[in-house]
Amino acid sequence: MRLIKLVVLFFIIQVHGQQGGMWLPNLLKGDREAEMKNLGMKLTAEQIYSVNKSSLKDAVPQFDGGCTAEVISDKGLILTNHHCGYDNIQSHSTVEHDYLRDGFWAYKMEEELPNPGVVVTFVVRIEDVTTKVLEGTTSSTPEAEKQKKIQQNIAELTKTLPKETWQENLIKTFYDGNQYVLFVTETFKDVRLVGAPPSSIGKFGSDTDNWVWPRHTGDFSLFRIYADKNNRPAGYSTENVPYKPKHFFPISIKGIKENDFTMVMGYPGRTQEYLPSYAVEQIVNTLNPVKIEVRDAALKVQDRFMRKDQAIKIQYASKYASIANYWKKWIGETKGLKKSNAIAAKQKFEKELTEKINKVGKQAEYGNLLTDFQKNYAEIKEYALARDLFSEVVLRNTESLQTGYKLYQLEQILANKGEQSFTDRKNTLSKGIDAFYKDYNNEVDKNVFEQLITIYVNKMPKQFLPNGLETLNAQQLANDIYTQSSLTALDKFRALLEGDTQTVISKINTDKGYQLVKSLTDTYIKNVVPKLDELSVKNAATQRTYMKAIIELSPKAARIFPDANSTLRVTYGKVKGYKPNDAVYYEPFTTLDGVMEKYIPGDYEFDVPQKLIDLYTAKDYGMYANANGKMPVAFIATNHTTGGNSGSPALDANGNLIGLNFDRVWEGTMSDIYYSPEICRNIMVDSRYVLFIIDKFAGAKNIINELKIIKPALKK
Ligand code: ARG
Ligand code: ASP
Repeated sequence: MRLIKLVVLFFIIQVHGQQGGMWLPNLLKGDREAEMKNLGMKLTAEQIYSVNKSSLKDAVPQFDGGCTAEVISDKGLILTNHHCGYDNIQSHSTVEHDYLRDGFWAYKMEEELPNPGVVVTFVVRIEDVTTKVLEGTTSSTPEAEKQKKIQQNIAELTKTLPKETWQENLIKTFYDGNQYVLFVTETFKDVRLVGAPPSSIGKFGSDTDNWVWPRHTGDFSLFRIYADKNNRPAGYSTENVPYKPKHFFPISIKGIKENDFTMVMGYPGRTQEYLPSYAVEQIVNTLNPVKIEVRDAALKVQDRFMRKDQAIKIQYASKYASIANYWKKWIGETKGLKKSNAIAAKQKFEKELTEKINKVGKQAEYGNLLTDFQKNYAEIKEYALARDLFSEVVLRNTESLQTGYKLYQLEQILANKGEQSFTDRKNTLSKGIDAFYKDYNNEVDKNVFEQLITIYVNKMPKQFLPNGLETLNAQQLANDIYTQSSLTALDKFRALLEGDTQTVISKINTDKGYQLVKSLTDTYIKNVVPKLDELSVKNAATQRTYMKAIIELSPKAARIFPDANSTLRVTYGKVKGYKPNDAVYYEPFTTLDGVMEKYIPGDYEFDVPQKLIDLYTAKDYGMYANANGKMPVAFIATNHTTGGNSGSPALDANGNLIGLNFDRVWEGTMSDIYYSPEICRNIMVDSRYVLFIIDKFAGAKNIINELKIIKPALKK
């Protein structure tokens, strides 16, 4: 029996190798490098991250705070996802010039479109600064005081640690506060749109296929970084020149096969791999369900309007996609956590950890961790529910309430910071507001409001509701607000902000919409926030000690990687299919044949451009076809990725670009909480499809000529 177990374990390790985890690029030497080489990598750790020489990390910037991009030419050309450039593609679009629908290609540099506000950030250097950050604290410093001191140290170090004038220092916490790391960064502010396929390629399959394999989306767009004459960051200027990178990725069209090594570099946003079972239970049974319910309602309303009105469809396309994205992710995550028995697995892990704690006699330090967690999570439950409801209904998915909340912050600024700050904020607010109302439709938002406020009242623990709201007549309230409130139209909103400070304050306070936002927010801040903060601080402290115990008591070879926190990471694995269900196996590659199988003429998700159909019919794939003469589209591998990894370069054993990360498979979306190498896969668009679309579909030879393309050796 034992022997069988050992053999099975050995087999699992053989098949999957050591995979999973998102690692800091400056810490690959040693175990990680050995593992990567074992999986087939031909590079050294030094080639991936080096302080003195150019290395792969120099070609991997964060794109506009939330995505990743990669540099692919010596003229600052970068590649990211279509869904990462989406807002910018949309902002240049009108009903006549619809770049979302038709695509956009700059055939000359002069045609590239500036995107005010969009930034691209490179990591120059990474350094451990834990000792410096913890200076002046000891293990016996009371928690609140300790955190305050840490925050002060971080603020001070951020200012004083050495860097060039055009760079920034950024200190981030790792392992739940057990480690602090400095990132010296450079942020470029002149980023221009170079190319984007039509949505029928870049977003093919849209929300139906989102988070799903097999996938057929050409999810890419192209931008260019511009710098000043010294190759340094500068605001938009016609004087700026294309950025000269320290490194750019050659693009391989040699093709890939199952089990090939791949790695992905990028900026994963947030994972919670070390949560206790109590927290996972709360996510599965309480928090995910309510967030899903709110978004489900908002999406149904928007969809109803978008289907019958092209103008509304353009206005709401980006908002709809972003609401739908995590709505669907949470559904998959909940399912996956249940199916993989994540809670039971966590409980088992906790039991084993407790045994180890007892065995090594560390009960004094670690003995109460799990009972503390149990108590904390029971106590925080209704506050966490309130937080999620408030943020999903008020801050996130009802547009007029969102605007009302901006006015709430404005009024707070006057109370806390005085008149000058108030005026400054008011001016910023009026500047941004045109763009907001350009995409606002009163009927849509009214219907969303009616649904969401009903859920809010039904699901919110009664003690967290403002007086009078329990007996809500949602329809009546919606009618009142959406006919009378100035939050619901640009001209009315502008008028609201006119006049001196006192006039503005008294005007907004007589507005019905604002009154509602104010009572919701006041109640939330008074009845929820203080206790929520108190319990969150407690939980964070317990989590930090728990993490410390895990690191300390795990066997030497254990692979304890830090949770994602939007910093640069490397993850690696193999190209691999998977078994989603009994009797079903998914192959790791898709081709253009599958696009045509899914094709539904005129459909808003599955239409295919005529030009692409023609290329398919003629099999006019140029040098980009695979060995079977088919056009590759997407592939999957065991790289451990999360939100923020979109647009990340997928690299082969030699560090050449073979694809562009953009999603994960449905059955593995629980990987943010519970990664399993058997079922978790990241989805990438094949670099050959990207080049084929640029070259054959768009005819943008100017772009192709800029690239370094690695071709297969000629066959004899
Ligand atoms: N699910 C992917 C990620 O989390 C892609 C999202 C964009 N696509 C969409 N149809 N909403 O960002
Ligand atoms: N689609 C995600 C992103 O935008 C990636 C993921 O969650 O797998 O970053």
